[in-house]
Amino acid sequence: MSQKINGVKGMNDLLPGELGGDMAPVEVWQHVERTTRELFARFGYGEIRTPMVEDTALFVRSVGEETDIVGKEMYTFEDKGGRSLSLRPEGTAPAVRAFIEHSVANQEPLTRWYYIGPMFRYERMKTGRYRQFFQIGAEAIGSREAAQDVELMDMVVQLLEALGLKEVSLNLNSLGDDACRPAYHQKLVEYLTAHREELCGDCQRRLETNPMRVLDCKNEKCQAVVQAAPNILQFLCEPCKAHFDEVKRKLDALGVKYVVNPKIVRGLDYYTRTTFEFIAAHPALGTASTVGGGGRYDKLLKGLGGPDLPAVGFGLGLDRLTLLLKESGQKFSTPPDVFIAVADEGSGDAAFALASKLRREGLKVEFDTRGGSLKSQMKRADKTKARYTLVLGQAERESGKGQLKRMADGQQFPVALSEIVQTVRSAPPA
Ligand code: HAM
Repeated sequence: MSQKINGVKGMNDLLPGELGGDMAPVEVWQHVERTTRELFARFGYGEIRTPMVEDTALFVRSVGEETDIVGKEMYTFEDKGGRSLSLRPEGTAPAVRAFIEHSVANQEPLTRWYYIGPMFRYERMKTGRYRQFFQIGAEAIGSREAAQDVELMDMVVQLLEALGLKEVSLNLNSLGDDACRPAYHQKLVEYLTAHREELCGDCQRRLETNPMRVLDCKNEKCQAVVQAAPNILQFLCEPCKAHFDEVKRKLDALGVKYVVNPKIVRGLDYYTRTTFEFIAAHPALGTASTVGGGGRYDKLLKGLGGPDLPAVGFGLGLDRLTLLLKESGQKFSTPPDVFIAVADEGSGDAAFALASKLRREGLKVEFDTRGGSLKSQMKRADKTKARYTLVLGQAERESGKGQLKRMADGQQFPVALSEIVQTVRSAPPA
């Protein structure tokens, strides 16, 4: 027997119904995607689709060489032309690259984009953390104002509301800018250096490369050290403080709840000023509780050779959102309206044609292409949870009439074969 080949570790198959194991059924994914598209359109965001693969340098220069994402987690390879390419680990850098490449700034003063698609990070896997995962992301380029930050956070809040996801809290912070962050950085390094021996091995290394990441290390020993670390918010310069105050004021005015959390430093280097994370307190996610994060990146466009424009955005983990929704017990798959069963051999073609016609007219119709006995077809009808069954045999063909059987209670509805759609649509629920 040939050996079977499995999918790549950390990359999941999404299957319909109950077939997909731990992952949420694909119908849940479709529901989240549909809800997102509808809602984001209301906010004036247009969809972009960028390639899954980019020049490696794009991520090195934006996400940052010293980050875990670029340093340890990227799928990087050389193509046949000797170029270093990487599977995208996130969506902001590709969006900015596309914005610059298509000279979008010359065509509109304020750009609002969103994307839904797979990202790739070679991470240690667990529930809610995968090597291919999906993000819903949005980026707004061109506005420096706090209103833009708040519009994005409001969009996430409204999405979570529309999905019926509660127990997600918005954590808000500011990382300052080039004017005020260096002084904070220096104080933090001094403090952490004095506690170096108490930090985990990773954080001892981070102290040299990316000290702010020590603040969000999950290790208990590091958490204890971080408790008394200098607070970034006390170091903000006047303009950064004014921006942060305005963000909070506008969130309050919209009635959006948040907690200020100076430990929200994010794992990517491009942030300035506002940063935020949406954190879910739900056992289904274990420690992978951050369902989304984002912030301002006012220096990134210029840093990637583009115009000097401010920007802000977020990314949501679609895998995590769907896991939460799966737990919520809501149902997203709709059963067939009608199952067409064949009563005798001579009626197969007519039943097949009737199923086709009803689908054209808008019904969701099941038909067992394997044929088989009426009994086995009825079993199949039960299994598909079809609302109605119609058995087509010689008598029905000759009279042009049949019986629609409502599966929930067995009640029969006489129907002209030419009027099945109207009858199904108007029949009262069982
Ligand atoms: P991020 O925090 O790296 O930000 O990722 C955003 C979200 O993607 C996370 O909060 C999490 O829900 C999900 N995520 C990340 N890694 C994984 C994984 N291995 N498995 C499952 N889900 C994961 C960004 O990527 C930024 N580009 C967000 C942004 C947009 N900032 C500004 N604009």
